[in-house]
Amino acid sequence: MAMMKAWSFGLVLLLLSFYYPVNGADNKNSSLGASFIFGDSLVDAGNNNYLPTLSRANIPPNGIDFRASGGNPTGRDTNGRTIGDIVGEELGVPNYAVPYLAPNSTGKAILYGVNYASGGGGIMNATGRIFVNRLGLDIQIDFFNNTRKQFDTLLGSSKAKDYISKRSIFSVTIGANDFLNNYLLPVLSVGARISQSPDGFIDDMITHLRNQLTRLYQLDARKFVVGNVGPIGCIPYQKTINQLNENECVDLANKLAIQYNGRLKDLLTELNGKLPGAIFVHANVYDLVMDLIVNYKKYGIISGGSNRFSASVTFFDYSLKPIFFHVGFTTASKACCGNGGQFAGIIPCGPTSSMCDDREKHVFWDPYHPSEAANLIIAQQLLNGNTKVISPVNLKQLRNL
Ligand SMILES: *[C@@H]1O[C@H](CO)[C@@H](O)[C@H](O)[C@H]1NC(C)=O
Ligand SMILES: *[C@@H]1O[C@H](CO)[C@@H](O)[C@H](O)[C@H]1NC(C)=O
Ligand SMILES: *[C@@H]1O[C@H](CO)[C@@H](O)[C@H](O)[C@H]1NC(C)=O
Ligand SMILES: *[C@@H]1O[C@H](CO)[C@@H](O)[C@H](O)[C@H]1NC(C)=O
Repeated sequence: MAMMKAWSFGLVLLLLSFYYPVNGADNKNSSLGASFIFGDSLVDAGNNNYLPTLSRANIPPNGIDFRASGGNPTGRDTNGRTIGDIVGEELGVPNYAVPYLAPNSTGKAILYGVNYASGGGGIMNATGRIFVNRLGLDIQIDFFNNTRKQFDTLLGSSKAKDYISKRSIFSVTIGANDFLNNYLLPVLSVGARISQSPDGFIDDMITHLRNQLTRLYQLDARKFVVGNVGPIGCIPYQKTINQLNENECVDLANKLAIQYNGRLKDLLTELNGKLPGAIFVHANVYDLVMDLIVNYKKYGIISGGSNRFSASVTFFDYSLKPIFFHVGFTTASKACCGNGGQFAGIIPCGPTSSMCDDREKHVFWDPYHPSEAANLIIAQQLLNGNTKVISPVNLKQLRNL
């Protein structure tokens, strides 16, 4: 077994040197200025800790593999790093983007980026009402407007403009809650589904998002990456409450996501044509996560020793073709941390939940969110992947533009 591991590690290193012929030589300038992160619980790094809300993750065992906090919970809804954290690291940002609402996110602490994401948040203001409190995307952008002014103070207005427009990346990971915690929850929310067809609701979402992305552009954002909505019908929560089999997903939820995703792609094409100097990168999270869920046995990460997940290396090449099979995920349906039903998908992860022993072998950390292992795979694809996954350029290329 040990020999097997050493053998495969050697091969992976070999492959790595193949994909990165000279370390770092694939770009002229390997440092990104700042990472500004907008979105929901997939990328929230602790904003909800400062809100009176039912959507919180600052309780153990969340964060158990997050090395920067020594395994203590930070408000991230996963066992380790979010996709936003990993992408920032890989693009050369020295620190994780700080949560906007943290009282010490002031002065120079904001220079490497700010995170506005909020668990439960969505494109529409009404989304996530069930949690009592959360930051919707309108408010997240109001907050960036404040940050924008702070950058003028910190760097002077001309340097600030350059830093924001040329050396910073704006990522937007949002939309899932507009379905899960709005459209598909008509009684508890605004009754959207009773009065609106899917077409009408998705139209509204796109109209809002067009306006929101345009506001960021007005505030000098130029390099954007916008994720589409993942296969929300396949999360353990949906599979559990609908009493599905292991390899089934909820059709309506996935159909809504696919319909929205088609409109999102068109919107980004439209904005690329309409807003001079801006580039909107489309991240096809849906296909990426769906492939991970269907072919979970073929994906895996290196883990071992005391530095869990220290090698942010994935067992696939960058055309979605798996290379190594032997330490693949063991499940893409059961949550590692959670309780209820056959997929542990009803009660969120907390101190009294049961937790799996092999966290790096679960695609889902809790009933709603991917594990750090899954986040590593998704992030690597966004950073290095081809146009099936991320287009017109990947994130390494976006940084170097
Ligand atoms: C990288 O970017 C920084 C900041 O704009 C600049 O000072 C530096 O000269 C650049 N390095 C290269 C190799 O282009
Ligand atoms: C802000 O405070 C938190 C909690 O004490 C700490 O973990 C974090 O490192 C601080 N951030 C900055 C930028 O100083
Ligand atoms: C959403 O809420 C924000 C902040 O409260 C407000 O500024 C904005 O006008 C609202 N948007 C809509 C469409 O109601
Ligand atoms: C930013 O805030 C200022 C007020 O300080 C306001 O006039 C402006 O319209 C805001 N910009 C955006 C894009 O929201």
